[in-house]
Amino acid sequence: MFVFTPDIPMSQEEFRLLRDYVYQYCGLHFSEESKYILEKRLARRLQHHRLKSFKDYYYLLRYNSSKDQELTELINLLTTNETYFFREDFQLKSFTEEIIPEICRRKEQEGNRRLRIWSAGCSTGEEPYTIAMLLLEKPELRDWQIDIIGTDISQQVLKVARRGLYGENSFRSTEESYRRKYFRSQDGKWLIDDRVKKLVTISHLNLFDAPRVSLLGKMDVIFCRNVIIYFDLAAKRRVIETFHRRLQPQGFLLLGHSESLMNISTAFELRHLRHDMVYQKPLASLSGAGL
Ligand SMILES: C[S@@+](CC[C@H](N)C(=O)[O-])C[C@H]1O[C@@H](n2cnc3c(N)ncnc32)[C@H](O)[C@@H]1O
Repeated sequence: MFVFTPDIPMSQEEFRLLRDYVYQYCGLHFSEESKYILEKRLARRLQHHRLKSFKDYYYLLRYNSSKDQELTELINLLTTNETYFFREDFQLKSFTEEIIPEICRRKEQEGNRRLRIWSAGCSTGEEPYTIAMLLLEKPELRDWQIDIIGTDISQQVLKVARRGLYGENSFRSTEESYRRKYFRSQDGKWLIDDRVKKLVTISHLNLFDAPRVSLLGKMDVIFCRNVIIYFDLAAKRRVIETFHRRLQPQGFLLLGHSESLMNISTAFELRHLRHDMVYQKPLASLSGAGL
């Protein structure tokens, strides 16, 4: 039976309460013009809980005993999780042909054969698994210890990442040879090989949860592509400062092709590589300088 549920309007006060709450939690910023997005997406949660107003939903999020679980549902509804294997190919070329050889040369001299790479905002896992496949293609890394850490705030996407089963859409820019080598077909989809999975750890992490982020340790490369576009300037600055702290001196920060540090930070150097421009943490940099 079809049950008609009238749309419940979101008042300006409710919009501000919910918008500020979401922003404080995870940096996602909804401008006045995008009020309708919050209204539309959260309407489903009101229906689910049979609530009469957005203020009731706000109280549920703040004070209910199941608020953590509800926050997870809310984040799942608000995040944009679009991703695919081998996204932004020119940047990946810089990564494999220039960045990795440069880091490895440096580390060899120190007698250190460990690589640590963070895919921050990894969504359903295509990005960290792409990094893993690219590194598996490099015979010179055979006796290196490689840790790729994929993190995201949305529990829903992490489930897919942990499973590693992908549909056609994820392969829109994947060379067939990779699919043949690193996937096998299962139930009309493609399951990623254990050799790739073994290099990747998938974890739940909110980029604004400073104590938990600091537990990650130091990284050689951080990929954070197509994530900070959804943050406002203050939130972008906070996240970039976090990345600066997490990177080794001379470590690299790779943002999405439409993202830059202009007006956000001067703490990184812009390196013009053959295929792309990337950010690098200088050798000697005062923590927080220019951020
Ligand atoms: C558009 S996807 C980008 C995926 C991948 N990096 C790529 O470029 O293909 C953005 C991801 O950032 C995640 N995200 C947004 N805010 C976050 C936060 N505060 N902490 C961690 N992840 C966040 C979203 O859940 C989403 O999965």
